[in-house]
Amino acid sequence: MRIGILTGGGDVPPLNAAIRAVCRRAFQYGWEVYGILDGYRGLIEGRAMQLTAEAVAPILNVGGTILHSSRTNPEKVEDGVQRCVETAKKLGLDAVVAIGGDDTLGAAYVLSQAGLPAVGIPKTIDNDVAETEYCLGFDTAINVIVDALERLRTTAASHHRVLVCEVMGRGAGWLAIVGGMAGGADYIFCPEVPDKLDSVVAHIRRLREQGKRYSIVVVAEGAQIEGIGAEVEELGTDAFGNPLLRHRGIGQRVANAIEEATGLNTREVVLAYLQRGGSPTAYDRAIATRFGIAAVDLIKGGQTGHMVALKGREVVPVKLDRIAGVTQMVSPDFIEAAKAMF
Ligand code: F6P
Repeated sequence: MRIGILTGGGDVPPLNAAIRAVCRRAFQYGWEVYGILDGYRGLIEGRAMQLTAEAVAPILNVGGTILHSSRTNPEKVEDGVQRCVETAKKLGLDAVVAIGGDDTLGAAYVLSQAGLPAVGIPKTIDNDVAETEYCLGFDTAINVIVDALERLRTTAASHHRVLVCEVMGRGAGWLAIVGGMAGGADYIFCPEVPDKLDSVVAHIRRLREQGKRYSIVVVAEGAQIEGIGAEVEELGTDAFGNPLLRHRGIGQRVANAIEEATGLNTREVVLAYLQRGGSPTAYDRAIATRFGIAAVDLIKGGQTGHMVALKGREVVPVKLDRIAGVTQMVSPDFIEAAKAMF
């Protein structure tokens, strides 16, 4: 057997840990593994390299992806799907492991329908892939946010400031809600709950009256805030139809508006790509390893057309056709718990 592996969409720190696990499991079965470069772009253009035990040995703790990534959508490239299938044939691939978010996984479904057996591994710091409780990269990103909020707290307290921290999450607010909750934010704006600037202003004033002379506000890049969210600069859409947002937009606008409304010294920080970089946490390394092993085992068991998913403590297969185009929003109980703290 010979399998291919690719990483698509925005990178996350444990991608290499997953690549290593896929390779090691495949090698245990006596299979060969080809790494396809630059996501689906490499599959369309026929660019791949054979992965060896030596190549994947030192990458467990290394962020990014040794295979590189792209947001290429095979369906948006002329004969893209067909060319992917042909490349796989030329390379002698029996199946492909696609590691990505709903776009990459949706494309994996299209390929599996077109005759290239594929399995998926969910990853995105946004943690918003349907049918799984976890997407690779989320835990590392959350820890970056918590570390940032703790640093912001000491400087905000020293200067009696309001500090606004913009985090990623254009469609779902997992990073804002869980990061804000774990980092002790005083207020959180997320895409799931349409909100008003007045609410945070009233809350900050209340905290001041109670004697708390600094505040930390977390804003998801895709938050819906009356009179503010709509002004975020949109830069068109990517090949999968996702809106491209200017990341520094909303945090800065919220900070300006808070300062204007309260007269309090307010600053903003945009965490942006810091959330996607660096070494993966222990949790991300372990789950990436489990997902990688399970993905290869799906191929071995003839269960292509599936993604591996976390349900409770178990890694289970889920049909790929249930993933495309669905955004897993933050569940109400998470939002309630976060809001109960402010
Ligand atoms: O999908 C993951 C993500 O990090 C989003 O949170 C963010 O909106 C987007 O990618 C940024 O994409 P790009 O890398 O294309 O700027």
